[in-house]
Amino acid sequence: ALVIRRHVRATVRWADAYAILSDLEEKCATPIMKLRQVSNAMTVEMHAGLASEGGSKLKMLLSFVDNLPPVVPSWTISRDEEGLYYSLDLAGTNFRVIRVQLGGKEGRVIKKEAKQVSIPPHLIVGTSNDLFEFIAAELANFVASEGEDFHLPVGRQREIGFTFSFPVKEHSFSSGSSIKWTKGFSIIDTGIGVGLDRRQLSQQNGDDITTGRRHCQLRVVGEDVVVELTKAMERKGLEMRVAALVNDTIGTLAGGRYYDPDVVAAVILGNGTNAAYIEQVKAIPKWNGLLPKSGEMVINMEWGSFRSAHLPMTEYDLTLDAESLNPNEQIFEKLISGMYLGEIVRRVLLKMAAEASLFGDTVPPKLEKPFMLSTPDISEMHHDTSSDLRVVGEKLKDVLEITNTCLRERKMVVEVCGIITRRAARLAAAGIVGILKKQGRDASTSDNQRTVVAVDGSLFVHCAIFGKYLEGALREILPHEVFETIVIKLVNDGSGLGAALLAASHSQYIEAKES
Ligand code: GLC
Repeated sequence: ALVIRRHVRATVRWADAYAILSDLEEKCATPIMKLRQVSNAMTVEMHAGLASEGGSKLKMLLSFVDNLPPVVPSWTISRDEEGLYYSLDLAGTNFRVIRVQLGGKEGRVIKKEAKQVSIPPHLIVGTSNDLFEFIAAELANFVASEGEDFHLPVGRQREIGFTFSFPVKEHSFSSGSSIKWTKGFSIIDTGIGVGLDRRQLSQQNGDDITTGRRHCQLRVVGEDVVVELTKAMERKGLEMRVAALVNDTIGTLAGGRYYDPDVVAAVILGNGTNAAYIEQVKAIPKWNGLLPKSGEMVINMEWGSFRSAHLPMTEYDLTLDAESLNPNEQIFEKLISGMYLGEIVRRVLLKMAAEASLFGDTVPPKLEKPFMLSTPDISEMHHDTSSDLRVVGEKLKDVLEITNTCLRERKMVVEVCGIITRRAARLAAAGIVGILKKQGRDASTSDNQRTVVAVDGSLFVHCAIFGKYLEGALREILPHEVFETIVIKLVNDGSGLGAALLAASHSQYIEAKES
């Protein structure tokens, strides 16, 4: 067996493989100068996006959230209020429902329960009506399971904060219409979408519609998602009022702030990537409403759509983008987020297989399939510390059906995973510095205020090295004294809690009581 293995592996043209690797390394390089350019460009685009609607690729969406828990004195839950609030978090192929019992002087979370529900594949490619119907039914079940230690004050209706992790043009604090789909979501028949049928779409995605893995289509672009949800809840006889509609970044910001008053920005590093931060209303020329008491408003940047000539793009990124459902869109997201990192690695390995016979004389068929390699796969391979890279060997076998890999091949795979992950994390760090710059927190001041960035998302949570790379880049870009004041804080499921808290702060009962 050893002889045969040697024979097969002898065909790898290592010089060619290393040439591809070093080219990749060079094109993905993020030296400090480049990171500074990216963060400067981010700040410039932030200004442009705040100046006028459509002024920049960065949407800089207004959230109508001008009052965050718990530091702002007018924040209603910080009184003797108590209450039961729900939240619904729709992020992708699953959603999460949460209930929290709030009480006491600090609006303390007394009890919290959550449930995750996966969306059946046929609904993912179905109509928005069916989807909301399903969500409302699950929500009704969840409400029905409310135990006795949760308590809805007499005469009150249940209220819910709705986290919708897509770009939404908010009309008010609790209404808004979806603008477009990101993260591989698509629209099949509203006339706004790409006009592919279900089969074409799934072929283009290379996904598996039987499992609904990775790509979904929904058909609610332009519709008010709160109206949709409310109608579905009514049909289920569920008496619930949607008191807040927020993006996941905003939920995370609010949830993070609940635990730590120094949180001033939130970043999602998951399937998609995005950031929200607190802005001075006077710095938002496109805002023509009243000046809120706090003088501040949270902005959903939709930073996934950021692009700049300074971004280190490779041939793999360009073809991934061109073949994606949203070409030319979400460029920053395609370089950073969990939805794409595995796919970029697959494209690099495919080139190595085709041009340097990595993995043998023929290209492994599975390696040719788009989205075969997921980001959790590359993260596991990247974190393999065994001397023979056993995990890498197993992953290649299980996921790509590539057997009998030698150590040198496995090392090559780890290198590629490392380059792509490192670039992603460092670019995310540059984005964060862009925000800090906009907030005037990137340079040292006499009081050296503490700055906390709340982070959530599967990529950040499950890929330990991502956070290390990110912090490493922050350390490089920022002056030492400033870096010392920055805290990158994981706020696990902050967005669910945040949405419930925001619902509470905008409860109609509290408002009614106050007026
Ligand atoms: C995508 C969505 C954005 C969301 C992010 C993280 O970029 O457009 O709204 O916040 O993913 O889930």
